[in-house]
Amino acid sequence: LISLGIEGTAEKTGVGIVDDEGNILSSVGNQLFPKEGGIHPREAAEHHAYWIPKLIPQAVEEAGIDLTDVDFISFSQGPGLGPALRTVATAARTLSLSLKIPIVGVNHCIGHVEIGKLDTGAINPVSLYVSGGNSQVIAFESGRYRIFGETLDIAVGNCFDHFGRETGLGHPGGPVIEKLALNGSYVDLPYSVKGMDFSFSGLLSAALRAFKRGVPIEDICFSLQETAFGMLVEVTERALAHTDKNEVLLCGGVSANSRLREMLKIMADEHYANFYMPNMKYCGDNGAMIAWLGQLTNKYFGTVDIKDTHIIQRYRTDEVDVPWVKDYKN
Ligand code: ATP
Ligand code: FE2
Repeated sequence: LISLGIEGTAEKTGVGIVDDEGNILSSVGNQLFPKEGGIHPREAAEHHAYWIPKLIPQAVEEAGIDLTDVDFISFSQGPGLGPALRTVATAARTLSLSLKIPIVGVNHCIGHVEIGKLDTGAINPVSLYVSGGNSQVIAFESGRYRIFGETLDIAVGNCFDHFGRETGLGHPGGPVIEKLALNGSYVDLPYSVKGMDFSFSGLLSAALRAFKRGVPIEDICFSLQETAFGMLVEVTERALAHTDKNEVLLCGGVSANSRLREMLKIMADEHYANFYMPNMKYCGDNGAMIAWLGQLTNKYFGTVDIKDTHIIQRYRTDEVDVPWVKDYKN
């Protein structure tokens, strides 16, 4: 069976084609870079409306198949920006109806974890999913992916992006902050882990205040990273110890950061756990992850009626049964 997946929960449009054995036949995408400010949900939706019709033929051609070879459509049903999700769902329904093939909606966050496992060979990891819109520590337990820890306010990528915009570094802020951090030294910023959750808005405000006080930008960037990543690694470490697993998987766009990878790897090594990170192509939002999770979902639950393809804007990772994951300790 061949699944064509459409992704577009935020500013990246992706279309991917994956078969039922997990062979990724193609994955193409296009990212919106706003001229100024952050991502506007309407602009993201317009971006998807423009790009989805262009990316579908491209994905089909790259996969070396015909559009008529596609057996069903998978799409990201949530979580994400409402207008963006609605555009993706509309495109998926249209394709399903016009090709007369079934459709299935999937959870975006689980898509990140499943493509990460597929691409790296990890089997039962504790996953750190960090992006512009999400920051979660996820691990399988009792039939579902449980959220062991998550942000109480903004995502870590959003914290970096907001800092970048306010200080003239541009959007996205993450990559610029990483470069500047190489020449920085530590200044005190608030470290905020509460129970198993973390918070980044206080850190962002403190970093902006330091900038206004004239603290060198390199020092703020360095300290922003050390503090934010320290929080993420602490919670991932505690989830690893609690679940007694022996794999750590990093995914989401913030995975591009070398310092975060280094810190997580050190932590994993200390616990004799293997550290995994998918190819960057499959770290950020992509169509292949949706196509692949569509395959897993279809195998166990089948496809759905068009009337059950409404978007789920606040779709929680732990709302979904994942019978394809076996409940064993590795
Ligand atoms: P999602 O829908 O999953 O929230 P997204 O739209 O935020 O995804 P991603 O590509 O997963 O898209 O992540 C983009 C984020 O990754 C941005 O916040 C960006 O600043 C951050 N980022 C990218 N490169 C780096 C880097 N080198 N260091 C830190 N952060 C980075
Ligand atoms: Fe994502």
